[in-house]
Amino acid sequence: MATDINRFAAIIAHCKEYGFIFPSSEIYDGLAAVYDYGQWGSELKKNIKDYWWKSMTQLHENIVGIDAAIFMHPTTWKASGHVDNFSDPMIDNKDSNKRYRVDHLLEAKADSLEKEGHEDQAEILLKEMDTLLAANDFDGLKRLIEQYKITCTVSGTGNWTEVRQFNLMFSTQIGSVSDEASEIYLRPETAQGIFVNFLNVQKTGRMKIPFGIAQIGKAFRNEIVARQFIFRMREFEQMEMQFFVRPGTQKEWYERWKEQRMQWHLSLGIPADKYRFHDHVKLAHYADAACDIEYNFPIGFKEVEGIHSRTDFDLKSHQEYSKKKMQYFDNDIDEATGKPYGNYIPYVIETSIGLDRTVLMVLSEAYEEQDLSTEDRKDSRVVLKFPPKLAPIKLAILPLVKKDGLPEIARSIMDTCKPHFRCFYEEKDTIGKRYRRMDAIGTPFCITVDHQTKEDNTVTIRYRDTMLQERIAISEILTIVQSAL
Ligand code: GAP
Repeated sequence: MATDINRFAAIIAHCKEYGFIFPSSEIYDGLAAVYDYGQWGSELKKNIKDYWWKSMTQLHENIVGIDAAIFMHPTTWKASGHVDNFSDPMIDNKDSNKRYRVDHLLEAKADSLEKEGHEDQAEILLKEMDTLLAANDFDGLKRLIEQYKITCTVSGTGNWTEVRQFNLMFSTQIGSVSDEASEIYLRPETAQGIFVNFLNVQKTGRMKIPFGIAQIGKAFRNEIVARQFIFRMREFEQMEMQFFVRPGTQKEWYERWKEQRMQWHLSLGIPADKYRFHDHVKLAHYADAACDIEYNFPIGFKEVEGIHSRTDFDLKSHQEYSKKKMQYFDNDIDEATGKPYGNYIPYVIETSIGLDRTVLMVLSEAYEEQDLSTEDRKDSRVVLKFPPKLAPIKLAILPLVKKDGLPEIARSIMDTCKPHFRCFYEEKDTIGKRYRRMDAIGTPFCITVDHQTKEDNTVTIRYRDTMLQERIAISEILTIVQSAL
């Protein structure tokens, strides 16, 4: 049985063994902090993506989606502030040459203090860290590392360099000429693709403020500390939504989106006590308020989603750099003046959730090791209790034996069900082994076609979570599965 400490390792191993997530280019020993989704992982990821997309666009009449390119004009990143500000304070250990993000070093120390029962000290350390980060006080951060006698995990020494800033953007060359003008960046966030298209969408979609633009796509960051499986990757996916509002109303919309996003998280079937909000003390260069939604991963409470009140920083800055107007004409009447609100640059509330982190959250919540031993026999299973709507496969169709016409009946059920949801057909191995394999990839329903089916058109349905089995008519299968979705 996995303890809390090794649960994370058990989940990673399970993901690899059952076709969810593999290290990238594994035959060449992998690439640090880059992962590939396998056959079931990619289904799970797509289901999460579709669920988010539907909740944002289909269920909000005033939110539309776009799909912008990863490559953007390099000035985008000057305007957004990423060239100058998208960096993290880092420190190197002189003996191992290993580089660390300062906040991660200090957070790890706070975690270990907490585990040793020194919660008060941990809290003081985190508070001090927040204050120093907010003040960009690099000398103070180094002093804090020394004060808590933090050492490098490789060399074991506290022989540190000064704290310095490192930019996290990847750059590459576009075209055949390699000069400075051809250098472009791989986007570190999808948000800028939305900002530069703000007027295109507003005009062609005849959108009226308040309205939102949503997008799902890849982002790239040269993360220094990247040892936490798909929690922190160098290539990852974001699901972002920028909501454009009238200046002065941003606080109210920020609170509304905080509430709405928490409701979305709860709709994944994850209990409220597994989540918490964390308000930012050190705000990003574009924000006037920001918080994270954190989930209690096996590695502790960590950020899954950020909600940011981004002011008019981005649109204003793009207007300045591009010399193109980024204004909106609001013809609603301002009650205070009796006149239309007129031209302004909208303020923005952003919701930004990491798709890969959501996959990890859903996997962490679903993973369960169960001891099913009885007096006579040892037995156990690993089950992924995904909400049916997110499960990679919804229904497994299993003929009891490979003969007597049972595969033909099972195939015909498969043909009826597969246009409606993802099904899986399997006739190899004992039925018990097949059930266990389906538990391990989180399939909520299995049906078994046996000899009785030939007589009365019924099958056995087996429910993943309870392992209960009951007899139902073939004609009921579709309705039972669909109502669970
Ligand atoms: N546009 C705002 C933005 O990018 P962020 O807090 O830097 O804000 C948003 O990122 C979300 O993207 C995070 O909450 C996290 O879920 C995800 N994310 C960020 N860096 C990541 C990484 N290196 N690997 C995986 N997910 C990451």
